[in-house]
Amino acid sequence: MKFFIDTANLDQIKEAQDLGVLDGVTTNPSLMAKEGITGAENILKHYVAICDAVEGDVSAEVIAVDFEGMVKEGEQLAALHPQIVVKIPMVKDGIKALKYFSDRKIKTNCTLIFSAGQALLAAKAGATYVSPFIGRLDDVSTDGIFLINEIREIYDNYAFETEILAASVRHTMHIINCAKIGADVMTGPLKAITGLLNHPLTDNGLKKFLDDYKKGN
Ligand code: E4P
Repeated sequence: MKFFIDTANLDQIKEAQDLGVLDGVTTNPSLMAKEGITGAENILKHYVAICDAVEGDVSAEVIAVDFEGMVKEGEQLAALHPQIVVKIPMVKDGIKALKYFSDRKIKTNCTLIFSAGQALLAAKAGATYVSPFIGRLDDVSTDGIFLINEIREIYDNYAFETEILAASVRHTMHIINCAKIGADVMTGPLKAITGLLNHPLTDNGLKKFLDDYKKGN
């Protein structure tokens, strides 16, 4: 399972990279705004800074919602750095844009996926990744993990190469449940990734080992 970090915060990206388990980064306009990165030029520069800080795919989202606009922005984003993956929203023109980029071997991430039908369409259009937002489904009392299961079954039935990128991951159990059912990738905050480290028995056990060592020395 690949681990992506879902942030535009360079310190957190570098911390995850230093841990040695990071496979990529996802961003979105809200995450950019949260870091105070505004204006097209600053946003483009920030994508390059993220690519320089990590190895692996970095999703950069288009703002346009029409085909021509998505193609123009997506080509500009893809030209920034070889690690850029063009993030396209799940709308009708987005499907056409996915096909356009897929035909030109430019990687894409279809975002805002909330149903199996949307994931099927995105795969048909040749998306590299689909991003089902499991946390946002959970927020409205709908089982996000169930959607990952449905998409896994559909993709396996037809050997689609599109990777399931479980997005809107909020906590460690999301990561574990996604791993159990075979999501290819998960993207979440740093705290969900480092949260996987924690177990009180590990802490207690380590304390005892160190205390016993000190007694004998
Ligand atoms: C995915 O690429 C999105 O950036 C993200 O996972 C959305 O997460 P949120 O629901 O926590 O905002």
